[in-house]
Amino acid sequence: MGNNRVIVGCQWGDEGKGKIADLLASDADIIVRFQGGANAGHTVIVGDTKYILHLIPSGIIHPDKVCYIGNGVVLDPVACKEELDFLVGQGVDYHGRLFISPAANLVLPYHKLIEAVEEEKRGAAWIDTTKRGIGPAYVDKVARHGIRMIDLFAPDRLKKRLDFQRQIKSRYLEGSADERADLDRTYETLLGLADLFRPMVVDVSYRLHQAYREGKTILYEGAQGTMLDVDLGTYPYVTSSNTTVGGVLTGLGIGVRMIDEVVGVVKAYTTRVGAGWFPTELVSDIGDRMRDRGAEYGAATGRPRRCGWLDLVTLRHAVRINGVDSIAVTKLDVLDEFAEIKVCVAYELDGQRLGQVPLDLAALGHAKPVYEVLPGWQRDTSGVTSFDSLPEKARTYLKFMADDLAVGICMVSTGARRNETIMV
Ligand code: GDP
Ligand code: IMO
Ligand code: MG
Repeated sequence: MGNNRVIVGCQWGDEGKGKIADLLASDADIIVRFQGGANAGHTVIVGDTKYILHLIPSGIIHPDKVCYIGNGVVLDPVACKEELDFLVGQGVDYHGRLFISPAANLVLPYHKLIEAVEEEKRGAAWIDTTKRGIGPAYVDKVARHGIRMIDLFAPDRLKKRLDFQRQIKSRYLEGSADERADLDRTYETLLGLADLFRPMVVDVSYRLHQAYREGKTILYEGAQGTMLDVDLGTYPYVTSSNTTVGGVLTGLGIGVRMIDEVVGVVKAYTTRVGAGWFPTELVSDIGDRMRDRGAEYGAATGRPRRCGWLDLVTLRHAVRINGVDSIAVTKLDVLDEFAEIKVCVAYELDGQRLGQVPLDLAALGHAKPVYEVLPGWQRDTSGVTSFDSLPEKARTYLKFMADDLAVGICMVSTGARRNETIMV
């Protein structure tokens, strides 16, 4: 069995996938993104430099690795250029080792405009998206009138496609003073970016198969988290892609044999940014302490993240859906100061105890968590690098989680830096 691993977030995103991807990238030749877009914010800290990656796989920081962005990603070419410029400014040379699928749909300014209008219309029921145009771009893809990376190199076709947009999106665009409604300008911007992207566009599916056959190792870096999956998450408070393991195959054009292992990333507690049900949320001093200690502010948008205890019910859902083989537990150190640590083991719903997510996930809105209370370790674990050096109560906490989920723990993260990790 090879080491071709998928990294998938098991909660509502921001589990620490960036850090784990950076570590696992050392064992891989190739790192790929298969879904999502610049809504992601994956933090990797190397020495004094903090990289927040949105579109580009975290592996780009390793100078010897090759990175791919698959057809399942919605790519904002302007945001991508900004990210590339940032990387170059940090001394990261991406030339010849970053490739993009011709079939990746583009996120364009009018998608962000539409998203803003829709969010406003939703009123109190807003999703509180990242405002990166993700939803409307995926809508266009599925409606079969998206504009794709390959269209950048066919100006006439691009123009026709934009003209079609002008017709079908007239209710958003016509008469709008917002510069994002200006499709002529978008056309010019895209033509101006064509030369930047031309050398990067390759047949990603073909290249990955070739590499696989040559024995190269691939790391599939998921974005968002299981509970934000458009099919299997807390719909409609989700993102617009399949964040779960199924997205790997369709988002890259590969077969199931090219995956050997699924690593679920689990934060030692739960966070969620944006609107939507969150049974273990703590709107209290404890939640505030988690936010402070864990610096829980969005890597993409800076929004404060909502914080709460670990929720094993949603984690069971995530482990099952993704076929998680082992979990990487992150941010254990954030729990260091608490005297008691609660873990949600079931929900109480309409007078019944429920060990699995309800049929209607909207019921999470009134599900009452049933907690098991574990003693806190109240000792500093930050930077601990061996399992045996952890306080016994911290080990008990980890064991409790792993036993419940019936998975092994492959890593425990005790700080944001590379070396602040226990490799189990
Ligand atoms: P991602 O979207 O899943 O990659 O996660 P984010 O990068 O959005 O958020 C995770 C945050 O936690 C980042 O600021 C990381 O630098 C930080 N982080 C990752 N692992 C740890 C850890 O074990 N302990 C602490 N204290 N911070 C961590
Ligand atoms: P990473 O990869 C956390 C959330 C948004 C919103 C919902 C829909 O860093 O874990 P969207 O802009 O995708 O239409 O927003 O999904 N969301 C994330 N939350 N981490 C992310 O990515 C997220 N990407 C989207 O806050 O609730
Ligand atoms: Mg993030």
